[in-house]
Amino acid sequence: MKAIRSFLLAALVVAFATSVQAQSLKLADRQHGRTVTAHQLLSNLQTRTITVRDPAYGRSMTYRALPLAELLKELAVGPEDYVDFVATDKFSIGIPVRLLRGGAPQPFLAIESEGAPWPALPEKGRETAAPFYLVWQDAKPGEISPEYWVYKLAAVQVADSPYKRWPDLRVGGELPATDPAHRGLDRFVALCISCHRFKGAGDGEQGPDLGQPMNPVEYFQPGALRKFLRSSKQVRDWPQRRMPSFNEEMLSDEDLEAIIAWLTYKARR
Ligand code: HEC
Repeated sequence: MKAIRSFLLAALVVAFATSVQAQSLKLADRQHGRTVTAHQLLSNLQTRTITVRDPAYGRSMTYRALPLAELLKELAVGPEDYVDFVATDKFSIGIPVRLLRGGAPQPFLAIESEGAPWPALPEKGRETAAPFYLVWQDAKPGEISPEYWVYKLAAVQVADSPYKRWPDLRVGGELPATDPAHRGLDRFVALCISCHRFKGAGDGEQGPDLGQPMNPVEYFQPGALRKFLRSSKQVRDWPQRRMPSFNEEMLSDEDLEAIIAWLTYKARR
């Protein structure tokens, strides 16, 4: 009986510890790391109420939010750096610091407060964006990639640019500067690397590696690959399908062709 009681107590302590942990955000630069709680962030004097057009919720949403520039002040970060936003579901994306320093569109860290829980995300069961969420104020359609709205945020950490971290992604100097493969690599880094590695390069773990063992340009019919990127369910569908659809607003025809040009260039090498 006593053993059961202490087991229950231990389970309770663990449950409590994880719920508290889930409400804290890890902040790190190259030298230091620390953890801040939702409570601390909500009590920051710069925290305010904002309303944004939210692509994840598909409507206008109001949040308590701290300008991201305030968080960056605490981190050693250079103008060429990227900041990695890592979510609890393994989604991870690097965003160039120049986009994060303020101006318009302005990024904010939205913080869920105890008294006002966020609703479930559409088509995600009971999942919500909590406890932290990177949102953008005054973003015109197509200006900020939907991948840059990072929900279920767990960590914000300063990193080298993806090109520096994974030089194998690069396009060689033998291609002229006008070759679409250059733009394709930029688009891949902005839109795809959050979920897909390429020959091991990248941090994303939601989707398959697109460089190995084979590159999709080697096994997709060209038309099917284009169809798949626009809306993968036109090619195959099942309940756990997670590959997002990229409409023309998010990915122009030119950018789509550029990504395919980069994949094709990489497949040849
Ligand atoms: C939010 C995560 C996510 C993003 C962002 C994403 N994908 Fe995917 N992708 C997936 C997942 C997961 C799959 C596996 C199929 C599925 O679950 O729908 C997939 C499948 C694929 C496949 C098929 C691979 C195969 O062999 O079946 C290709 C090709 C692909 N993605 C290309 C891209 C490209 C190019 C981009 C950027 C424009 C991109 N994806 C962005 C998650 C993502």
